[in-house]
Amino acid sequence: MAEPVVTADLGHGPEGDPNRRDFIHIAAGAAAVGAGVMVAWPLINQMNPAADTLALSTIEFDTSKVQEGQQVVITWQGKPVFVRNRTAKEVQEAVSTPLGDLKDPQTDAERTKPGHEPMLVVIGSCTHLGCIPTFGSGDYGGWFCPCHGSHYDTSGRIRKGPAPLNLAVPEYEFTAGSKIKIG
Ligand code: FES
Repeated sequence: MAEPVVTADLGHGPEGDPNRRDFIHIAAGAAAVGAGVMVAWPLINQMNPAADTLALSTIEFDTSKVQEGQQVVITWQGKPVFVRNRTAKEVQEAVSTPLGDLKDPQTDAERTKPGHEPMLVVIGSCTHLGCIPTFGSGDYGGWFCPCHGSHYDTSGRIRKGPAPLNLAVPEYEFTAGSKIKIG
């Protein structure tokens, strides 16, 4: 439901009518806000990204280039993104993990796209202090961050160590067949 519109009552009473004073204050406030917007706009406009930067805000990648059991690292907005084509065993381990065992509970289905379950796309930056974890070591069959010892599972979920959160899944979608668009 729409919010009610509040309007100031001009009033026609004698000088000192509180309604009239209110209107003057409101009008003065509105003028000040207007001036603020005019001053702020050139600054905001300067902060808008240039067209070439915007183009880099999304990238496309064909996941068919990633063989089962392999991982490709691509760069998106200056960050490494792991695109891993998981084996059936890795998927099974991720799916069968009880949510109660997780520090940052998230199902594997919440971290993948329907119909593309083996493909895991995560930002390769440890959620502790940003080191790049490596795959194939650690206690949970996934990634291990050597900086301070965080262990991630085959879904990129934090299982042990100081990192507070799972490896982040970027905004992405499958566009055509095996192609994904990130961003
Ligand atoms: S940065 Fe990864 S454990 Fe500290």
